[in-house]
Amino acid sequence: MRFSGKVAVVTGAGSGIGRATAMRLAGEGAMVIGSDIDAGGLESTVEMIGEGAGFHPVISDVRSRDACHELVASAVADHGRLDVLCNIAGVARGHRVGDVDQEVWDLILRVNVEGVFWMSQAALPHLESSGGCIVNMASNAGLMGQAYTVPYCASKGAVVLMTKAMAMEAMRTGVRVNAVAPGGVETNLAASFGFPDRADMELMGRCMGFRGMAQADDIASAVAYLASDEAHRIHGAVLSIDAGLTAG
Ligand SMILES: NC(=O)c1ccc[n+]([C@@H]2O[C@H](COP(=O)([O-])OP(=O)(O)OC[C@H]3O[C@@H](n4cnc5c(N)ncnc54)[C@H](O)[C@@H]3O)[C@@H](O)[C@H]2O)c1
Repeated sequence: MRFSGKVAVVTGAGSGIGRATAMRLAGEGAMVIGSDIDAGGLESTVEMIGEGAGFHPVISDVRSRDACHELVASAVADHGRLDVLCNIAGVARGHRVGDVDQEVWDLILRVNVEGVFWMSQAALPHLESSGGCIVNMASNAGLMGQAYTVPYCASKGAVVLMTKAMAMEAMRTGVRVNAVAPGGVETNLAASFGFPDRADMELMGRCMGFRGMAQADDIASAVAYLASDEAHRIHGAVLSIDAGLTAG
């Protein structure tokens, strides 16, 4: 029960890694405010966690600065404090550079980059009061070049450096800021990820690794560790959980 008495906000809680993280934190005693744009996904998370078991769903879009600030403000107003922010909501699309249009570029950069920034901006003053922490969801795609995913790589590279830059700015406070960088994880995002026609399979093999896909809970366990007091000396770190994909 590492999160007993603590309040956590988890974005992307309606599916995959966000849901698994919400389940873990609630299972270890946290009051979790889980946000998503997918109402049906949030309903399923409520069913899986169980009514009244420390999970409060909120439909909220991380692309909106106002919505992010409202989400954090209402969590603090309802529960009195904020200890943990997990920025997990994200989107991915596979395109050749020439096929990326404005809509795809804006979607990926706004959800994956702006969402992390606005949520963190809203949460930081409350985390300073509680001595809390932020865990961001980066990716192996933020640490290595991956074909057919240039906007996604750009967005996850930004998550890596936002994590480090925010960690520097928070250095003289008690706040910790870290990120997790998974390789492939079996979720809706991975299942619906479309690579372009006639994609070069040899190039794609470079971002697949040798040890198969992870499960969402493999990643949630690392998020929970970084969010817990056990990780009190970890600040500004990007923890790869990719079964060696970025090792060489
Ligand atoms: N699955 C993988 O292979 C993998 C690998 C590395 C990193 N990641 C990252 O993990 C995170 C979670 O992805 P996942 O694999 O669990 O995918 P997922 O699709 O299962 O879950 C992502 C959730 O984010 C939500 N979301 C999308 N746009 C949103 C918005 N504007 N506002 C609020 N919520 C929004 C979706 O509705 C969905 O419920 C993402 O940041 C993703 O980039 C995933």
